[in-house]
Amino acid sequence: MNVQAAHTEAPVAHETRYLKNCWYAAWWSNDLPVGEIKARTILNQPLAFFRSADGVAHAVADRCSHRLAPLSMGKLLANGHLRCCYHGLEFDKDGHCVVNPHTPGVAPNTRLDIPSYPLVEKHGMVWVWLGEAEADVTLVPDYKCFDGADERHMSKRDYLRLEAETSLVVDNLLDLSHIAFLHDGILGDSAKADADIKVENTGDAIVVSRFNTDATIPGIFAEFWPDPPKLVDKGTAIRWTAPSNLLNDTGVWRQGTDRSTGTGFYGAHILTPETDETTHYFFAAVRWNVRTQGETDLRIQKNLNEMRRFAFEMQDAPVIEAQQRRMKAPSAPKPLFLSIDVGPVQYRRILERMLRAEDAPAQG
Ligand code: FES
Ligand SMILES: [Fe+2]
Repeated sequence: MNVQAAHTEAPVAHETRYLKNCWYAAWWSNDLPVGEIKARTILNQPLAFFRSADGVAHAVADRCSHRLAPLSMGKLLANGHLRCCYHGLEFDKDGHCVVNPHTPGVAPNTRLDIPSYPLVEKHGMVWVWLGEAEADVTLVPDYKCFDGADERHMSKRDYLRLEAETSLVVDNLLDLSHIAFLHDGILGDSAKADADIKVENTGDAIVVSRFNTDATIPGIFAEFWPDPPKLVDKGTAIRWTAPSNLLNDTGVWRQGTDRSTGTGFYGAHILTPETDETTHYFFAAVRWNVRTQGETDLRIQKNLNEMRRFAFEMQDAPVIEAQQRRMKAPSAPKPLFLSIDVGPVQYRRILERMLRAEDAPAQG
């Protein structure tokens, strides 16, 4: 793709609407232990998450029906009920009010019930469904690259909260051209900004990719391959699927062959809108075709943890957050789009189509 400055019309200003009938990542499974109530806002809705004694995760609205005190400030009782800290109403995992201590012997009015939400646990994450349609477990986003992975070949299942709306973070991830500049020296090289970037639109996914032949092995892979060839082919491809799930595949391999002769890693970037202006950002990486073992694996794991956290927290996040502040400023001009923005423009079109389909009255 030609990356010369080619101003194109920006798409219609983004109006904050969300796909509802889909799964959103709520927690890494490890971060939701038995015995705790954890609060997290998703799509502007405050939710209380907890596990029953059998380990099954549940989510209810994080507000008591009486005076709206957060249930996450209350107690998780041994029988699995949530007890409100303020006046003691108790709710079960389905949001039914099961105890009103102020009317002993009388079943609580069903008007005191609160909403509960379907959860599913898959690929090491807890996913929540906020839509009206029946939750469909076949629609859980595909991160099977994590299933059964050797923990030594995985980076930390990490999390950042960004003061930026989710669409700006997706834009950043689908824009491989920023890597050369913003991550110059650790993930990219600003002297090689004109690499050939391709965008593939399959109708329900966008894949942005970049391949180089005759490359020296990048620093990040120096340890991945103990005895690498002098020159390699290298590539990165990042896939977006709705609503905001991304999977990056990056690696190096023997020149003129395919990736099966090399090594690399998948990087998951899973985004969930917290509010219209903030985002939950879950990320983790898992290596493929691992060519090392023992202490080297542990060193690579540590490097991956630190390098990825540094890149996202100290390089991407400050720019995206500052960009949002500029965009929200009074009389901010409309952003202009360059040819490098094809991926971001195309994913927004797909999402827009899906939002219209979800809004359309059911046929029949
Ligand atoms: S606010 Fe929860 S019982 Fe009163
Ligand atoms: Fe980045």
